[in-house]
This record gives sequence, C-alpha cells and structure tokens, in this order.
Amino acid sequence: MRTATDRYSGGAILLHWLIAALLIGNIVLALSMERAPTLFMIHKSIGILVLLLTLIRIGWRLTHPAPALSAGLAAWERVTARVTHVAFYIALLAIPLLGWAAASTGRRGTGVLFGGIQWFDLPIGRSRALHELFGEVHELAVYFTIALIALHIAGALKHHFIDRDGEMRRMLPGR
Ligand code: HEM
Ligand code: HEM
Repeated sequence: MRTATDRYSGGAILLHWLIAALLIGNIVLALSMERAPTLFMIHKSIGILVLLLTLIRIGWRLTHPAPALSAGLAAWERVTARVTHVAFYIALLAIPLLGWAAASTGRRGTGVLFGGIQWFDLPIGRSRALHELFGEVHELAVYFTIALIALHIAGALKHHFIDRDGEMRRMLPGR
C-alpha cells in the first residue's frame, strides 16, 4: 500500500507537468517557427518563464524532499534516474540562459517579452561572434535535452506498463 508520503508533493507535481508542457511546447515552436517577430517574442517569453519556474522548482525541491525510489529498483536504474534528473535541472537552467545570452548579444537585444514588458539584457555586451556561439550552444543543448526526454519517458513508461511498480503514479496528481 502506498501512502501520501510515497509521492511527490502537489507543488512538485504541478511544477513538473507545467515545465514539461512549456519545454516541449517551446521546442516544437522553435523548430517550426519562421522568425516572425511575434512568434519569436512568444518563444523568448515561454523560455524566460521556464527559467523562472525552474528557479521556483529548485527552491521547492530543496525544501520538500522527494519520495525515496522504490526498494525494488536495480542499481543501474537508480543511477540512471538520478543522473537524468540532475541533467534535467542543469538543462532547464542552461537552455533559457544560453538563449537569453544569444538574444542579449544580438543586434536588437532581448527586447519586449510577454506582450509588453521591456526585458533586460544579460550584461555581456553586443557581439556577433558571441551571439552566434550562444545561439549554437543553445540549440545543441536542446538536442541533448530531447534525448534526455526520450530516455526519461521511456523509463516512466517501462515502470508503468512493464514493471507496474507505481513509480509513475508518484508524479501523477491524485489521492
Ligand atoms: C524552454 C526554453 C527554450 C527552448 C526549448 C528553446 C529552443 C530553441 C531552439 C530549438 C532554437 C533553434 C531554432 C532554429 O534555429 O531552428 C532556438 C533558437 C533561439 N532561441 Fe531559444 N529556446 C528556449 C529559450 C529561449 C530564451 C529564454 C531565449 C531568449 C530570451 C531564447 C532565444 C533564442 C534565440 C535568440 C534563438 C536563435 C539563435 C540563433 O540565432 O541561432 N530561447 N531556441
Ligand atoms: C519533457 C519534459 C520533462 C522534464 C524536464 C522532466 C523532468 C523531471 C525531473 C527533473 C524529475 C525529477 C524530480 C525530482 O526528484 O527532483 C522528474 C521526475 C519524474 N518524471 Fe519527468 N520530466 C519531463 C516529462 C515527463 C513525462 C512526459 C513523464 C511521463 C511520461 C514524466 C514522468 C516522470 C516521473 C514518473 C517522475 C518521477 C520519477 C521518480 O519516481 O523518481 N516526466 N521529471
């Protein structure tokens, strides 16, 4: 029998799914968008939102410990889960920061976000070379993260449908 302490807290579950939806949505948007100004503003706004939510999420994580992994997991599963989760937190910070750095070093700066807020640039100056470098690494970090997402979802589905061990339910809303 699983008890309430076996699952993630409501806040952790809300932030997990909100950030997952915004991240996947922004990847799809970025890879399909023409550089139309409005779409690009939406791209940067969602990205900054992911950054802010991730800071809140890390604060939440540090004050609301995660439930222990099931006792039945093999050592390699524990290590893979741990490494994937830490890599996600790094990616969720690095991707928006690199995008913001690319925008900040570009000719026009970060500009207006969320439909009307003049956003500030990271204080690293304007530079074409840096703009291109940050843009490239921003995009590379996204491809790396797509692989992480695939691994993470494969793991979640394996536990849910093959092992049927309740790992997945820990991150689902419910009683
Ligand atoms: C969830 C966060 C984000 C994701 C998943 C993401 C994803 C991407 C992807 C996949 C591209 C490549 C698009 C292409 O060239 O085909 C891209 C480009 C870009 N993104 Fe983001 N992005 C995020 C956050 C941000 C943020 C916060 C900013 C700025 C405030 C930003 C600014 C840019 C810029 C300037 C480019 C163009 C880079 C270039 O010229 O090569 N991104 N983004
Ligand atoms: C695509 C963006 C996603 C990101 C960035 C993400 C990130 C994370 C992170 C960082 C954790 C670890 C939480 C912690 O202990 O600190 C986690 C846990 C979890 N995620 Fe995701 N996730 C994503 C999508 C998904 C999807 C689509 C599923 C389901 C198919 C899923 C299922 C789970 C489950 C079941 C856990 C709990 C793992 C455990 O029991 O320890 N996630 N996720």
